[in-house]
Amino acid sequence: METLILKLEDFYKDDISLACEILKTGGLVAFPTETVYGLGALAFLPEAVKKIFAVKGRPADNPLIVHVGSFEQFEKVCYVEEKYWPVVKKVLPGPITFVFRKRPNVPYEVTGGLDTIGVRYPAHPVAQRLALCAGLIAAPSANLSGKPSPTTFEAVYEDLFGKIECIIDGGESAFGIESTIVDLTGEIPLVLRPGPITVEELEELFGKVKVFNPEEASRPLSPGMKYRHYAPDKPLRLVLPEELPHFSNTNVLVLCTEESREKYLKQASNVHVIGSLERPYTIAQNLYKSLRYVDKSPYPSAVIEKLPEYGIFFSIMNRIKKAARGER
Ligand code: TXA
Ligand code: MG
Repeated sequence: METLILKLEDFYKDDISLACEILKTGGLVAFPTETVYGLGALAFLPEAVKKIFAVKGRPADNPLIVHVGSFEQFEKVCYVEEKYWPVVKKVLPGPITFVFRKRPNVPYEVTGGLDTIGVRYPAHPVAQRLALCAGLIAAPSANLSGKPSPTTFEAVYEDLFGKIECIIDGGESAFGIESTIVDLTGEIPLVLRPGPITVEELEELFGKVKVFNPEEASRPLSPGMKYRHYAPDKPLRLVLPEELPHFSNTNVLVLCTEESREKYLKQASNVHVIGSLERPYTIAQNLYKSLRYVDKSPYPSAVIEKLPEYGIFFSIMNRIKKAARGER
């Protein structure tokens, strides 16, 4: 398949009408958001939505997030409880997805038959403009199933060129990890996936929240949780600080922070810096690029430094742990 590439300079003004046309006629468009790139189809075109699963190799029971470009568009797919509107309007548009009860007209393919739906109003102007001109967009991350989410145009190209109708090149994603997911269908807001909006920030917004712990639950609440995510193909291991002095394998790639670079360099020559502890959002931004680099590097395996587990670090460690477990 021929893939149209739209390289944008001005996210607010550049012409994206070709991408809108492609969506409206049932095609797939990979587009930038402030978290990671999405692979979109119009949510109300079930045949187009089905193609997303085929292209990604994604199990059909793993539901998609629907992307909107205004608060009005929420009403087309879900019911937002009156008490939640003030908070929702305070935090959106932004890097967070809310799970609501879905409206009956939402195609079965989008939610895999669930009676709830994840809705996201991204802050990225291109994502907003697409949803406003073409309509609501169902989109998972624009990677092949099992690969780390794409945070650059190059990563999307690697996975999807020749397989979809259009890729919009919007440069590098600002946050670099997927949106926070909060389920608002229960008694208290339930954090299904930590992300750029931290648990501490959610507590400020909502009062009390509960963080879903897969080890405590008998079934995966978010169907996606049972599938492999974020992991490179090569083995990746988490290293604790106390293991550092004993670490002497030189045939391994070391992913670490700027602050630990010197220490690791004494033990291994192959050190790849993923960001600075002082600017934790740089680590989020570089994480998936670094995980993709593991597979490209000449080294047969990699280790990654363990980070603290509060604030944005908690969200980053959530992804690192899954990658290091090679979770499926
Ligand atoms: O930042 C993001 O959220 C990106 C960009 C493209 O918006 N999207 C993204 O989508 O990460 P995806 O499909 O890779 O991850 C969405 C996760 C999956 O684990 C899925 O199971 C879960 O959200 N999910 C979707 N709908 C749900 C629902 N109704 N209830 C619970 N979990 C849901
Ligand atoms: Mg994904």
